[in-house]
Amino acid sequence: MIYTQLIKTNLSSQYFGKQIIYYPELESTNEMAWELLNIDNADHGTLIITDNQIKGKGRNNNSWFSSPNKGLTISLILKQEIHSDKVGLIPLVAGICIIKLLEKFSVSPHLKWPNDILIDEKKIAGVLCKSRWTKKKIRAIVVGFGMNVNETKNDFPNKLRSCATSLGIETGNYHQLENLTAILINIFGKYWVKLNESSQEIITEWISLCGHLNQKVSFNYLNTQYDGIFKGIDNKGQAIISIKGNDKIFPSIILN
Ligand code: BTN
Repeated sequence: MIYTQLIKTNLSSQYFGKQIIYYPELESTNEMAWELLNIDNADHGTLIITDNQIKGKGRNNNSWFSSPNKGLTISLILKQEIHSDKVGLIPLVAGICIIKLLEKFSVSPHLKWPNDILIDEKKIAGVLCKSRWTKKKIRAIVVGFGMNVNETKNDFPNKLRSCATSLGIETGNYHQLENLTAILINIFGKYWVKLNESSQEIITEWISLCGHLNQKVSFNYLNTQYDGIFKGIDNKGQAIISIKGNDKIFPSIILN
């Protein structure tokens, strides 16, 4: 059971988390966020959270596994006006925020484009961001955060055991989900202000936390597999990847 009041009392942000919608069980917090947006029933900063996400979505139609009551699965709804050039930076901001949260517990993860958070090549967290536009204007963005927190190795399905880790495994301690949520949302609040002030600071910070600058990367984009050299991030948050000697641009955010 997640106690939303416990999250709220530790929040310092004006908007983010002012409304928290909690479900003991849910297919996907991101899908629920879009359902609420479809019926115009969610303000900017609304947080959707569950103890037991049973059909979590990952990037490229992958699923996101989370262990009931052990993993953190939350979605944050953004509806405030933001310059269209900055929208692509939001998934990158979300990744930085998870790193900043984890650093508070003395673990040192790095980022893998677009938004995997890894410790020694094992995935501890991921971010799934989607945006919806009407007439060239952004209508809403849903930022889904998934983080492995109190899972032990045996909690992960066989195929994930060698490539996943959790905050509990890394620190040897139990971590309260409400506390982690409040810290994460407070950090996001600060970065939201930063994003509106300076895209360059965000890009520089993301690059400093990226574990594969100028290295080979393989990734899937729109059902096609690409291999190239990761060269950096442009001012709209898109990845610059050199493929067979030519620089190509790939967006970090998905349109819904
Ligand atoms: C990825 O690594 O592919 C992204 C994983 C994102 C998972 C989170 S968990 C909360 C939110 N709800 C979802 O269905 N997915 C995101």
